[in-house]
Amino acid sequence: MPARALSSSSADIAEAARLLRRGEVIAFPTETVYGLGGDATNDRAVAAIFAAKGRPRFNPLISHLAAPEAAADLALLDERSRGVARRFWPGPLTLVLRRRADCPISLLASAGLDTVALRVPAHPVAQALLAAADRPIAAPSANRSGRISPTAAEHVASELGDRIAAIVDGGAAAIGVESTVLDLSGERPLLLRPGGVTVEALTASLGPIDEPRSEAGVAPRAPGMLASHYAPNLPLRLEIGEALPGEAVLAFGGDPPPGFAEIRWLSRSGDLAEAAANLFAALRALDRPDFSGIAVMPIPERGLGRAINDRLRRAAAPRP
Ligand code: TXA
Ligand code: MG
Repeated sequence: MPARALSSSSADIAEAARLLRRGEVIAFPTETVYGLGGDATNDRAVAAIFAAKGRPRFNPLISHLAAPEAAADLALLDERSRGVARRFWPGPLTLVLRRRADCPISLLASAGLDTVALRVPAHPVAQALLAAADRPIAAPSANRSGRISPTAAEHVASELGDRIAAIVDGGAAAIGVESTVLDLSGERPLLLRPGGVTVEALTASLGPIDEPRSEAGVAPRAPGMLASHYAPNLPLRLEIGEALPGEAVLAFGGDPPPGFAEIRWLSRSGDLAEAAANLFAALRALDRPDFSGIAVMPIPERGLGRAINDRLRRAAAPRP
């Protein structure tokens, strides 16, 4: 059965919350990307999320909360994590924290780690849905494992429409790249994934943050950060010089070199927030069999540019 299309009306949000409480898996909007949500305290719902995505079970899930206060029932908070939560929640930040002994979140969602990843999204539809569901909702991005993250309800419908109970349509995601994942479970703050909250903003509030750069460094603590991810079907080329025959280009700032079969602008004016918001939809739009590949103009490695470049590097990485 195809997923039910739900709107952001209060009746539809109440229906979506009923489905979640019954253990069903549904897609819902957040300000970063669409999430594939299920009751985080229900092992079967969490297992159904992994199954729908085709996601390896060693890759843990983020649990979403309606309010920052709810985190205290799930994780061990200290002054530092309370301060970061006060400053950045609700918003595009996920905190990895040590699980409380009595944490009701399914161990499957933590993939066997002694930590939980928590996020309080700011999107009004997500807020209303989480409040009505009245429990933590586990949600990875609502794409098939390894594919491009969805920033619109249509993206979810085309990839997962036959595998989930419902899709709540809240319009295009405003930020367009996933949340920043910050690990506060150890002595020093550790950036596991650049995202919607910039490293510059985190550093201003926390001081220096460690960044595991190599795959080897990332592997044990951020099992989800596989090198190849966010992948279109076409090959992606980041160091562009001249256009290759039949190639399309993702353009940023100035004009691209001549000769590309199609140009799609991330941001003509070189605005990183606009580029992030357009990134995944642009990749999807250019991922057509009549092009030979997708080239990308350089994007500065600052602010949201770090998250954009992280996703592009993974999309360009050799596929397993
Ligand atoms: O913006 C977002 O974060 C979206 C929306 C739906 O909230 N969600 C999202 O989820 O991107 P997902 O599953 O695609 O990415 C979650 C990342 C993965 O890299 C995962 O490995 C990491 O967070 N993660 C989750 N729990 C973790 C934990 N306990 N320790 C370390 N990393 C964790
Ligand atoms: Mg994802």
